[in-house]
Amino acid sequence: MTVSPPPAPAPPTAPGSVLTARHPLVDGHTADAPLLAAYRGRRPAHRPVWFMRQAGRSLPEYREVRRGIGMLESCLMPDLAAEITLQPVRRHGVDAAILFSDIVVPLKLAGVDVQIVAGTGPVVASPIRTAADVAALPPLDPDALAPVAAEAAAVVAELGSTPLIGFAGAPFTLASYLVEGGPSKDHRRTKTLMHAAPDVWHALAAWVADVTGSFLRAQVLAGASAVQVFDSWAGGLSRPDYQRFVAGHSAAVFAAVADLDVPRVHFGVGTGELLTAMRDVGADVVGIDHRVPLDVASERLGGAVPIQGNIDPALLFAGRDALHAHTLDVIRRGASAPGHVLNLGHGVPPDTDPDVLTELVEFIHAQPSA
Ligand code: CP3
Repeated sequence: MTVSPPPAPAPPTAPGSVLTARHPLVDGHTADAPLLAAYRGRRPAHRPVWFMRQAGRSLPEYREVRRGIGMLESCLMPDLAAEITLQPVRRHGVDAAILFSDIVVPLKLAGVDVQIVAGTGPVVASPIRTAADVAALPPLDPDALAPVAAEAAAVVAELGSTPLIGFAGAPFTLASYLVEGGPSKDHRRTKTLMHAAPDVWHALAAWVADVTGSFLRAQVLAGASAVQVFDSWAGGLSRPDYQRFVAGHSAAVFAAVADLDVPRVHFGVGTGELLTAMRDVGADVVGIDHRVPLDVASERLGGAVPIQGNIDPALLFAGRDALHAHTLDVIRRGASAPGHVLNLGHGVPPDTDPDVLTELVEFIHAQPSA
């Protein structure tokens, strides 16, 4: 019989915190970050801004280091992924880094055969559609998350006072990739599963919530100071279907990091009708896409919830004057919420001129704070 050695002693935790004393929120590095102040409903001296998909194809330095390396492969190479995470922070001076990874990474780490096909998105080799398919889904071995934690730790070691945002996909968006086998416009097979075989749907969504919640928690324990949960495709659901089939599973993901006391952002596309429902699953901040003006969004949220958004990505191509006018309008409308973090209404388009983003950050930082 082999006797396994005793586990290495855990680093000391700060009093009252599950986070270790080395976590940037505990050691003070990110404690005064404008991003976190705004996420907590305050108005910091300078207005925080970051961009969804800020790390990626719009940057020549990204295309250079990714050459010949597959997307998911690069997410699991901690030093390379950390470098990619830091590139937009260095170049644009944004107020946050977001971990370079993908929402399907924890599915891959659990053993699902998934690839990211350029120009298409995630493609799953054997779609999950029956009770037997769900029952055969493997549990995620926590040790498999080691490369993700290593990447986050490497990023945080370089970031100083700039916070790292961890992220995960929400159960609906991830399950829809698993059921459809790839991107889908109408999510027909997913909705069919929900309504025709609700037990199978709930078992699948619970499995996804567990896996994606572990992915999120690993990032915070390794140093992320905030998290964002992407339910990118939830806008395809009616509010009753969201409540009945999705909300409980999304709540489980938010609950997976509730004790860590980091701000939790919830974002979806086309989710104007779901904003309060998406807050109610446990979000501290709601991300708004470019379809709903921020004053309208804030009113829907009772004027009580910090918000993030929502510069229309198309305006990045409209010239400086139009972009500045639109950005000032976003800032003015965002002033009705208790806290506002500037962002795009969805991700940076790959063909964006990076200099436009750098200049936009400078413009936002130059605006007097309310
Ligand atoms: O900078 C960041 O925002 C952090 C990195 C990040 C990526 N994906 C990197 C990525 C984040 C937060 C994501 C989340 C993600 N992935 C979402 C939610 C956000 C959203 O856009 O609504 C979704 C739906 C996915 C699934 C996915 N992965 C899609 C639809 C695609 C695009 C496919 C394509 O080629 O058009 C990906 C690939 C992906 N994820 C890329 C990047 C930088 C591009 C791949 C490449 O560079 O080759």
